[in-house]
Amino acid sequence: MAPGGFAPGGPGGSATDGANSRRRLWHRLSDASPSGGHRRAGPSPAMVAVAQSRLPAGVAVVGDALNLPFADGAFDHVLTGYFYGHLPLDERTVFLSEARRVAGELVVIDTALRPGVEPEQWVERMLNNGSRHRIYKRYLTSAQLTGELGGEVLFEGQSFVAARVTWSNPS
Ligand SMILES: C[S@@+](CC[C@H](N)C(=O)[O-])C[C@H]1O[C@@H](n2cnc3c(N)ncnc32)[C@H](O)[C@@H]1O
Repeated sequence: MAPGGFAPGGPGGSATDGANSRRRLWHRLSDASPSGGHRRAGPSPAMVAVAQSRLPAGVAVVGDALNLPFADGAFDHVLTGYFYGHLPLDERTVFLSEARRVAGELVVIDTALRPGVEPEQWVERMLNNGSRHRIYKRYLTSAQLTGELGGEVLFEGQSFVAARVTWSNPS
């Protein structure tokens, strides 16, 4: 199961993670859907290749989560982990619109706000290759995430929160 205990996809459904990497969530999602039915989009061919190797029955695609390379209504669900919290407001709006365009439901998993942590930060991170990048990062409460999505709380933990929004009408 994915973190939080929900499995993406449904009967005949599919899911896409709007931002892939080699981190834990990918393993968990691969375990959750060994029969496939998933499409995943990420920006880096190298990461997508790793994802594909862990998803023999699914399809990993290089793509921009702000301009998803999928047709309108292509999926039942979109699931994204530790990505939404990196989006400034203007990009959040675009991402939500894209998710709604391709699916009827969105699940967002992201880092929980902890005591003593600034909820919104610009921080410098160093990659394994030594390159440095300034990134935007938010730490979210479940109420905040749910409010932004207009949905419901799925999980509220010390390390991460999850929320779901189901859209009854196409965008
Ligand atoms: C913090 S990581 C989380 C990755 C993964 N979902 C996980 O939980 O392990 C955020 C990822 O978003 C990717 N990313 C950033 N902007 C993106 C975009 N516009 N489209 C797709 N992926 C993007 C980054 O390259 C990075 O791999």
